[in-house]
Amino acid sequence: MVEHAFAKINLTLDVMGRRPDGYHEVDMVMQTIDLADVLTLEEDPAGAITLEANASSVPLDERNLAHVAARVFRANSGVNRGVRILIDKQIPVAAGLAGGSADAAAVLRGLNRLWGTGKTTDELAAWGAAIGSDVPFCVRRGCAVARGRGERLEPVNHRMHAWVVLVRPPVFVSTGDVYGALRAEEYSRRPRSPEMVRALAAGDFEAVRAGVHNVLAPVTFRLYPEVARLAERVRHVAGVPVHMSGSGPTLFCLLPTRGSAQRVYHALRGFMREVYLCRFLPSALAPPRGGRPSVEP
Ligand code: C5P
Repeated sequence: MVEHAFAKINLTLDVMGRRPDGYHEVDMVMQTIDLADVLTLEEDPAGAITLEANASSVPLDERNLAHVAARVFRANSGVNRGVRILIDKQIPVAAGLAGGSADAAAVLRGLNRLWGTGKTTDELAAWGAAIGSDVPFCVRRGCAVARGRGERLEPVNHRMHAWVVLVRPPVFVSTGDVYGALRAEEYSRRPRSPEMVRALAAGDFEAVRAGVHNVLAPVTFRLYPEVARLAERVRHVAGVPVHMSGSGPTLFCLLPTRGSAQRVYHALRGFMREVYLCRFLPSALAPPRGGRPSVEP
């Protein structure tokens, strides 16, 4: 059985304050893109949970969020069967694209099908919150405003088509370190999500691009000055605004057409190794279960 684990970008990310549990209160617009890991799940007659991946950058033991997800699924569903999980890793790791969370969400969805447990998306999303803040969104996909620590979701229905060129700087960023370095005076005074939701609903590409905002970007740029320098270079070469996703370091540009996105993609490939050309995956456009997404090139 095959399950796709789609990456996300943040169109907005506002931090409203620090919570008593040590996490931060966020308000953000998250958008699924068609860059995906491909997970294959097979019954393990021996009853074990095992992982295999085509990448050396991810742990294959119980630290991997896919492994955590299989254990959470077993504990919550009461089903005590084994599963062999193969991960074809396409999403950059520790990059602000929720790659690990997407894998965990794909395992929750996949085991629900493999073991015929009939859990609802709401139930799976609630289980996902125990795995990581971004997992509930990755269970649902599409576009949503996420609040709380990221697990409280309000779906955004829009039909906007936009192209995304991602640049992954060769730096590994810890989300905890970035949130830890955020100063109280950098907290947002007001969330940008209402404006972004209006722009998406109106299908106004220029307003969407102008409304992209991330309060963590200056923090990541301060901790990793090479990312700030690279963002400036990308902006110069691409000739359009450059944004950061999540806690980074992945940078992205939004483009209105495939042609303009391809031009930016090829220009950036001239000096960066890890560049990806993708596009928004609105919920209405999500492929059928097991279908292939259109990751280009
Ligand atoms: O939930 P997750 O394990 O993905 O979060 C990683 C780290 O990021 C947390 O340990 C916390 O330090 C920080 N974080 C936060 N506020 C959030 C989400 C994450 O402070 N809303």
